[in-house]
Amino acid sequence: MQGFPSVFESIVDLQKGHIDGLLSLAGKFKGYSHDWQGLPIPFLKRPVIATSFLENSTRTKHSFAIAIKNIGATYIDFNADTSSLKKGESLEETLKTLHSQGVDLCIIRTNVSNELTPFKGKPPIKIINGGDGTHQHPTQALLDLFTMREIGLDLEGKTIAIIGDTIHSRVGHSLMDLLPLYGAKIILCGPPECLPNEVELKNYPAVSLSTDVDETIEASDLLYLLRIQKERHAGKNVDYYETYPQKYGISVERLKKHNKVIPVFHPGPANVGVEISKDLIDSQYYFGYEQVHNSIFMRMAIIQAVLQNADKKLGIQFAGRKIKDLV
Ligand code: NCD
Repeated sequence: MQGFPSVFESIVDLQKGHIDGLLSLAGKFKGYSHDWQGLPIPFLKRPVIATSFLENSTRTKHSFAIAIKNIGATYIDFNADTSSLKKGESLEETLKTLHSQGVDLCIIRTNVSNELTPFKGKPPIKIINGGDGTHQHPTQALLDLFTMREIGLDLEGKTIAIIGDTIHSRVGHSLMDLLPLYGAKIILCGPPECLPNEVELKNYPAVSLSTDVDETIEASDLLYLLRIQKERHAGKNVDYYETYPQKYGISVERLKKHNKVIPVFHPGPANVGVEISKDLIDSQYYFGYEQVHNSIFMRMAIIQAVLQNADKKLGIQFAGRKIKDLV
C-alpha cells in the first residue's frame, strides 16, 4: 500500500485508498483463518514485532499478539513496568533501543493523548497506535468498519448512534473520523457531561449531538455503546452515574419499545447493567464478539501494511562506522 504511514497514530493519517486496501486485505486474511500455514508470507526476513502497553488492556493486546503470530512474525511482549522506562529513560530512547536490537515495529498503548505525534517527523521505529489517552484508537475503528460491512450494513446514508462517554473515548473519536468517509451520519448521545460541545464539532459536519436516547434509537441503523470511562473523570461532575443505567442503558426491552431490529456494537470492556443489559449482550442483536473475532484479521492487515511501506529513514542507521570516520 503506497504511502502507508510508518507511525500510524490516527485515522486521519490514512487516505481512503489505504482504508479500502485494509478492508480487502483483512477479508483475504479471514479466508485463511482455517489454515494459517497456507498464508503466503510476503516478507524476505521474519519481522520482529513488540507490543508495549503502558495502560491496561485485555482484547487489544491479545488480538495484536495473535495477529503477529498469524503473520509469521516473532513476538516480543515488552513489559514497560520492568523496563528502563521506570529508570527515567524516555520513550524515544527506548524505541531506538528496540530498533537497534532488530525490532521492526512497536504497537504502543499509552494514557497520554498525542504522545506518539512527535515521532511522525523522524520515526525511531515503525509504530501502530493501540490507543492513546482520549485521542485515537484507529485499529478498533477499522475493525468495526470491517464488521459493519461484513454483517451487511452499507453505511451510505445510514445513521450510527454512539451512545455513552464519547468525550473521553478514543474509540468514539476514531469512529467520528472514519465512518463519515463511507457516507454515514453519526449521532453522539449521552448526558451533557459526556458530549463534546458544538465548537469541538465544527470540523465534523456529519456528526450531531443528542441527550435524548429514545429519539436517537428511533433515528439510528446501528447502536455503538461506550463504557463510562471513570478513570478519566478526575475532578469532574459525576452525578449522572446514578441515573445512567435507567436513562441511557440499552436493553432488549428498550429496542422492542421502538420496534427496532438493529445491531448493537461495543468495543469492550462492557459494564453489564450500566450501558448494556445482560439480556442484550446475550441476544441476537449484540455483535461485540464478531468485533473481537474480526480484530485479528484487521490487525494482521494493518501490521502488514505498516511493515511493507518503504521507509528507509527509520531509527538508527548502522553503516559500519569506524573511529577514523569521526570529525
Ligand atoms: C477501549 C479502549 O481501551 O479504548 N477498548 C478496546 O480497546 N477494545 C474502550 C474502553 O476502554 O472503554
